Amino acid sequence: MSSLLVTGIGQLVTNDATLGDGSPLGTLVDAALVVEDRRVAWVGPAASAPAADTAYDVSGRAVVPGFVDSHSHRVFAGDRSEAFAARMRGRPYSAGGIRTTVAATRAASDEQLAANVARHVGEMRRQGTTTVEIKSGYGLTVVDEARSLALARQATDETTFLGAHVVPPEYADDPAGYVDLVTGPMLEACAPHAKWVDVFCEKGAFDEDQARAVLAAGAAAGLSGRLHANQLGHGPGVQLACELGLVAVDHCTYLSDADISALASSGTVSTLLPGVEFSTRSPYPDGRRLLDAGCHVAIATDCNPGSSYTSSMPLCVALAVREMRMSPAEALWAATRGGAAALGRDDVGHLGVGAAADLAVLDAPSYVHLAYRPGVPLVREVLVGGSPA
Ligand code: NIG
Ligand code: FE
Repeated sequence: MSSLLVTGIGQLVTNDATLGDGSPLGTLVDAALVVEDRRVAWVGPAASAPAADTAYDVSGRAVVPGFVDSHSHRVFAGDRSEAFAARMRGRPYSAGGIRTTVAATRAASDEQLAANVARHVGEMRRQGTTTVEIKSGYGLTVVDEARSLALARQATDETTFLGAHVVPPEYADDPAGYVDLVTGPMLEACAPHAKWVDVFCEKGAFDEDQARAVLAAGAAAGLSGRLHANQLGHGPGVQLACELGLVAVDHCTYLSDADISALASSGTVSTLLPGVEFSTRSPYPDGRRLLDAGCHVAIATDCNPGSSYTSSMPLCVALAVREMRMSPAEALWAATRGGAAALGRDDVGHLGVGAAADLAVLDAPSYVHLAYRPGVPLVREVLVGGSPA
């Protein structure tokens, strides 16, 4: 077993408050870390680092934990750039656009879909993402949902069955029949490829009772639940997620005081997806209000061809700081350890001893540059398990 010393780290963010400056980011200056067997084996001042088999000197750059993108839809075909352009001319976003991507995805070959997933995964890696969740939801037949999840599984273990994304056109007159399909044969075909089950709980998609039915069937099949909720308006999804003790509830753009208290008194993570508000020209969720109330907050891209076609976690960090009233430290934490919490993971999203050695070397002296220099490709190198990714 060979060891690697990463040294010359001008600023190391560990997200471990027992290390460094004792802040939630656990930041050290002039630091080093040692990787053994894909994990962090030692963290401390570069001057007292132990010897290792090989050394990598990052010449004073900042090192941060790899981003954990806990919400994305990367198995699809087609393009909706015209709808984006129309929105920028004033047309509102509509969930109905999902059906356009469903038609393109059903028509695509396995090879085309696999190539799209691979392209997205490459894109996100170059921007520092080392853990990703990927949903189905653009197939909406038994066969197309199962193949979407099988393809997603080749890229990540964090796969989510989202058969309940919208009611497809062939079930337009029979939404109850579609929920029966989702909770029956579709779930049976998809569960072997999925860890999570998700529902788009929103007007125009699925209501509270339908969401309960899908989550209950998913739980019976061994899948943990998560929800898309309160994206386009106020609704029951956030409270439902808290009542059921789900690991995460995502979007959280429209929140009542009761929603905030439910989130604050539950362990459920609110995942904020600022790429959506950017791409739909909508009001951003209020990250500050959630943090001040003591809620757990994550940030993710929601990468999808309709509401947020970005794979960039650094962009989402910058938007969280500029538009959601979060500090650079809060935004980085939400995009790393917060994302890990939203996936129920403690092995990623931080660089404490024992964590996966997943990290990004920034062409910058400090993590603050992620928001200070928006749009600049600051990620110079990415290591996954201590190896170049
Ligand atoms: O998370 N909200 C539902 N699903 C996606 C949008 C999908 C689409 O427009 O294609 C989302 O924003
Ligand atoms: Fe989504």
